[in-house]
Amino acid sequence: MTSPDEHGAHHLVWGEIGDAHFPVLIGPSQIDRLGQLWDERLEGAAALLISDAAVAAYAGRARDVLVSRGIRVVDVVVPSGEGSKTLAELERICRIAAQNGIRRADAVVAVGGGVVGDLAGFVAASYQRGIRLVHLPTTLLAMVDSAVGGKTGVDLPEAKNYVGAIWQPEFVVMDTDSLATLPARELSCGFAEVIKYGLLNSYEMFAHVEAWPAPLDPAADGFVALIRDCVVHKLNVVGQDERETGLRASLNLGHTVGHGIEAAAGYGRYHHGEAISLGLLAALRVAHETIGAALEWRDRTLQILARHGLPTQLASDVSTAAILEAMQRDKKASASSFNMVFVQEPGAVLLRQDPPRDVVIAAIEELR
Ligand SMILES: NC(=O)c1ccc[n+]([C@@H]2O[C@H](COP(=O)([O-])OP(=O)(O)OC[C@H]3O[C@@H](n4cnc5c(N)ncnc54)[C@H](O)[C@@H]3O)[C@@H](O)[C@H]2O)c1
Ligand SMILES: [Zn+2]
Repeated sequence: MTSPDEHGAHHLVWGEIGDAHFPVLIGPSQIDRLGQLWDERLEGAAALLISDAAVAAYAGRARDVLVSRGIRVVDVVVPSGEGSKTLAELERICRIAAQNGIRRADAVVAVGGGVVGDLAGFVAASYQRGIRLVHLPTTLLAMVDSAVGGKTGVDLPEAKNYVGAIWQPEFVVMDTDSLATLPARELSCGFAEVIKYGLLNSYEMFAHVEAWPAPLDPAADGFVALIRDCVVHKLNVVGQDERETGLRASLNLGHTVGHGIEAAAGYGRYHHGEAISLGLLAALRVAHETIGAALEWRDRTLQILARHGLPTQLASDVSTAAILEAMQRDKKASASSFNMVFVQEPGAVLLRQDPPRDVVIAAIEELR
């Protein structure tokens, strides 16, 4: 499923999800392969290039690669941040596409983090009932998580990610050079998901993540392989359960309490990865109390999170009641349960609904 290319620094992974079969390129300078992939998989298509304002220079490189091949490019820039994941922004982009003659045979190119990936992905899934999609993720979080798996969508004022579709890309180019401009805080946020994969995957991967030096350097040896390991894990899980009827829910480790904290604190205060940092600690505590997982895993995870500047303590003004209420509103929770993921030890994962409420409360309180 994965093979390093001749230089060893780049990796090619294949996603096989439902009927979709798509390459994921990971490594430095991979944007240079965009033109070749386009010719192979999207020949003749025009590009609706949707990018985040913060990655203008990088989006410009993508545009240059396409234009130099004679590909017509329609540019759309969206403001940075979660505030762009709205139905209004979806409408604005679709109208630009219509006004510029983007048709079914054309393709959306998403250049940015998870926000642009989710929004542009949903444009691709819904415009003219679906056109093709290419992801060029530019955050660590988007590389290890949102750009593979096919979930796309926007937020409602009532709740995050409430309107969307599952839509797989034609290919994904993860150019690690794009991470050079990513603020350290965002790199750490992505690393929270990397730590999650370590817990989900195996003791070996957990120990590898544990040994990873801080501060994070996306150009360091082995960073590309680390991203690949996360991508392979996610593709493997999603390949078995695209629509989250079972196994895919394991990827929500740390997200039940994490989403609750994100919402209760007011979106933006804790970035997603920071809320997941706290959520992982709560989940590991709950696993200890309910299935007897060794506390060692919580302790060691806490050390890793702290080393990478991720929060291990919850602000006192974010009330437990508000977190619980937000957890219950989360669409991943069924009416009566919290749907938590438990790790017995790295690589041994259980999907358990409904841990006792008092155990969940104590796990949140412990974060203070
Ligand atoms: N579809 C999925 O499966 C999935 C999975 C996880 C998260 N998500 C979604 O992803 C979003 C979070 O993604 P994110 O953390 O990438 O956030 P983001 O897209 O908001 O990016 C974070 C910040 O970094 C900036 N940025 C992006 N790339 C940059 C670069 N290379 N250099 C400098 N700045 C850069 C952005 O402008 C933004 O300010 C959320 O909306 C979440 O719901 C989706
Ligand atoms: Zn996440």
